[in-house]
Amino acid sequence: KNGIAITGSGSAVPSTSLENEVLTQLVETSDEWISTRTGIRQRQLALPPESLTTLATDASKQAITAAGITAADIDLILLATSTPDDLFGSACRIQAELGATKAVAFDLTAACSGFLFGLVTAAQFIRTGVYQNVLLIGADILSRWVDWQDRRTCVLFGDGAGAVILQANNSDRLLGFSLKSDGTQNHHLNLAYEGTTQQVTPDIHIPTGSYHPISMNGKEVYRFAVQKVPEVIDKALFEAHLTVDRIDWLILHQANQRIINAVADRLNIPEHKVISNVAHYGNTSAASIPLALDEAVRQGKIKPNDIIATSGFGAGLSWGAAIFQW
Ligand code: ACO
Repeated sequence: KNGIAITGSGSAVPSTSLENEVLTQLVETSDEWISTRTGIRQRQLALPPESLTTLATDASKQAITAAGITAADIDLILLATSTPDDLFGSACRIQAELGATKAVAFDLTAACSGFLFGLVTAAQFIRTGVYQNVLLIGADILSRWVDWQDRRTCVLFGDGAGAVILQANNSDRLLGFSLKSDGTQNHHLNLAYEGTTQQVTPDIHIPTGSYHPISMNGKEVYRFAVQKVPEVIDKALFEAHLTVDRIDWLILHQANQRIINAVADRLNIPEHKVISNVAHYGNTSAASIPLALDEAVRQGKIKPNDIIATSGFGAGLSWGAAIFQW
């Protein structure tokens, strides 16, 4: 049993919504600008006591139930996030909340590609026979790291969590994947550390401090996504020995409706096969793919044996695609 199957999914979003209209009171923007350029109409924001841990735990409980296992069965918890509640990581807290006593748990950071990178990482542990039951979570609270006075970024992001259970299976349902990184383009999208200098001794000055809010070159990120995402999906399809017409569902990282449409166009994938919920949640970073996947599963769109093409892309720069069978 060294194949992989996704056997359950779950998702959670915070309870506070923020509509475009409200943003017009904070920055010079309009509902019309935001919705025509991005497709986003509203986003959900995590306010205390909601946290990355509570959202991820809620999504995980649903995925565990859907898979018909218990938390005690889980061998590995992978939390894909760039915004843990604790810089040392949040996966262990989630392990404790779930009571997944046997599981080893750690965080994995690959920005908006985090879910994809986590999926492939989880698959390696299962394929080598090391673990049988893996909980993979994609969760982010980017609202904490946005400058709410910067109209170029504050309109784009929202908070959420999604989770899947991956299990060892007789047939391997991860049919192909491809992951990519290009650090030479890192400057286009950052949440960079910047300290203020603290004098420890007369000779030693250590920068301690915090992180800058998100800074982004929107045009470059747009150009990167529209070029690289179709390429990497083609590569994953090639690995899967499949052609594009075999795809039943395209689930891209939900950054922007225009990116989703442009990628689907380039790949000649008709609109009825494209899953999108960016209008409701904005860009939820590592959460967006499992959130969209879980909604589509619960709506009854995705059926057993359907072929799903998925791709994540974002800061790093990083991007990747996977083809899997439901
Ligand atoms: N409201 C009104 N006007 C705005 C806003 C806003 N919220 N934001 C920018 N503008 C203005 C700009 O200042 C600019 O004005 P100017 O011409 O007077 O200088 C004008 O609108 C056009 O700005 P552009 O940046 O050229 O707008 P563009 O059509 O490129 O759309 C957008 C911007 C939506 C950000 C687009 O570039 C995009 O989608 N990029 C990809 C971003 C993305 O998806 N990032 C995340 C991916 S990775 C991750 O998930 C972390």
